[in-house]
Amino acid sequence: MACPLPLSRLHKLMILVGLSGILLSLPTLATEQDDKGLPPIRTLTAEQSERAAANYQKYCVLCHGENRQGHVNDHAPSLRSRSLFESGVPHAILRPLSYGRQGTAMGGYLDEVGGPLTLDETWDLTYWLFEQSGVERVAMSTQPVLGDIQRGEKIYQRDCAVCHGKAGEGITAPALGNASALAHNSDEFIRYAIQQGRQDTPMPAFSGRLTEPDIDNVTAFLRSRASGWQDIKPVLQALPTPDQYVVNPQGEQPDFALAQGRYVSSADLYAALVAKKKMVLLDTRVTSVWQTAHIEGSFPAPYYSDFKTIAKDIPRDVLIVAYCSCPRAAADYVIDQLKDLGFNHTAVLYEGIFGWMHEGYPVARRAIATPDDGSSN
Ligand code: HEC
Ligand code: HEC
Repeated sequence: MACPLPLSRLHKLMILVGLSGILLSLPTLATEQDDKGLPPIRTLTAEQSERAAANYQKYCVLCHGENRQGHVNDHAPSLRSRSLFESGVPHAILRPLSYGRQGTAMGGYLDEVGGPLTLDETWDLTYWLFEQSGVERVAMSTQPVLGDIQRGEKIYQRDCAVCHGKAGEGITAPALGNASALAHNSDEFIRYAIQQGRQDTPMPAFSGRLTEPDIDNVTAFLRSRASGWQDIKPVLQALPTPDQYVVNPQGEQPDFALAQGRYVSSADLYAALVAKKKMVLLDTRVTSVWQTAHIEGSFPAPYYSDFKTIAKDIPRDVLIVAYCSCPRAAADYVIDQLKDLGFNHTAVLYEGIFGWMHEGYPVARRAIATPDDGSSN
């Protein structure tokens, strides 16, 4: 049947949801809670349960073992320990199962990332694991665990590194420095694992072996590694001064064939830079990303700049080429501002800097100094 009115995607979605009543069974809705205030564990039908068990057998046994005991291959953790299912919200299982843990043997099984399971199947397998564990969940705070990070690091190196690795990379135990794990495991989930251990696995319970404040300290230390195990301090480059705004001041101006009177291709821009053509290159992104990587010779003129001020320092007779990563929105916006101020000799990099890098053209990257490589200054 033809629809008499064009419907927006939102409307279609609303109708779909209304018709099939999916809303009630959507497990991800944050508003649903059981009597402990926890997101509920959905009861599987016999058919869903059977399919989940079969998926477990097919995809998980290799490493996590026939009976979910773990440690069969690649030191894959137990998928039945009491503390994991007590503290685990469904996402503690669903996330690693769906998206994997980058850099470990745990790959993603969701079709969205190229895996064999549909979203429904990953949810069913998650609930099946909860069901099989037979464990009562414990309500956990989502507040951060605060502690003395330096002290936590000492304890970590003394008591944990032997299994989890000096840099949290995991030796015989999960990689605690793993960015994907730290991104979805709450502080309380981590603290609970340390306190309680993981039953019937090599992970000991530290409750009684470490004081409660020290358990907090080591938790806070692990959390502090969320942006990387090493404490990386960016070295900020000095910004170019107006006398450096023109690239190749001695060169000739390029003669670009501009698409739609505005867009220059990465290939043409690169050729002009190699041929030492004269131009002004504007990086119109937020300056922090210019610091990370930029096209050599560009200077940051972020889209939120005061262009009347910048305009005073840009020569009017030199071609201005602007780029961003959006891939053109910010650059187009900046060029429009400059045109309003009377700059008529302008261009925008069509593919943006990501397209430029994708095609293999070079960028200048920031130097990184870590506290112990001696290069910080
Ligand atoms: C004897 C080896 C060993 C030591 C020592 C050890 N762990 Fe573990 N840890 C493990 C193993 C193995 C696992 C996985 C257990 C499983 O099968 O679920 C684990 C799991 C964990 C987990 C849960 C990870 C997750 O994603 O579920 C945390 C957190 C953790 N350990 C923290 C620590 C901390 C902190 C210390 C030191 C205070 C420590 N461990 C000391 C072996 C160890
Ligand atoms: C090739 C081996 C391998 C296979 C197959 C595998 N896993 Fe894993 N899995 C791992 C490893 C290794 C880890 C621990 C990664 C780390 O260091 O954090 C892990 C971690 C997990 C975790 C996190 C547990 C925790 O304590 O935080 C879950 C949940 C999980 N796997 C579920 C599954 C499911 C479900 C399947 C089947 C669909 C599966 N895995 C298949 C190796 C595997």
